[in-house]
Amino acid sequence: ASILVLNGPNLNLLGTREPKIYGATTLDEINSRLIRQAQEAGHHLQCLQSNAEYELIERVHDARREGIQFIVINPAAFTHTSVALRDALAAVEIPFIEVHLSNVHQREPFRHHSYFSDLAVGVICGLGPQGYELALQAALAQIDQGV
Ligand code: DQA
Repeated sequence: ASILVLNGPNLNLLGTREPKIYGATTLDEINSRLIRQAQEAGHHLQCLQSNAEYELIERVHDARREGIQFIVINPAAFTHTSVALRDALAAVEIPFIEVHLSNVHQREPFRHHSYFSDLAVGVICGLGPQGYELALQAALAQIDQGV
């Protein structure tokens, strides 16, 4: 099966961006681990990070044409702002898990609301890079169950 991992704005800066909040691991390191984890399970994984809302939206649209079966997404700041990216995920009807490195509920009130959580299969936050690995593990299990 094919799985897509999407990361939103500023996550290209992981490793140097507010390391007390987001840790020292780079996005390349996270993505390489996920690609290996998927390969070991006999699946194919693609990654995209973008700072542009329309690129993420168009990648979601393409995902349906490509037959992507599951999406793992950290919408970053778009979590709290983007009706458009939410609508794209709703439109393609591809199941997705929402991931945040930080525990958004321990942070500023504007981070407590997500436009994605009510549509997501599940939400993981506060576990750092491990959150992506756990999300992928759950996605692979769901795919193997034919969900
Ligand atoms: C984030 C949390 C968001 O509030 C923030 O805007 C981000 C990253 C996280 O992974 O913890 O850019 O999604």
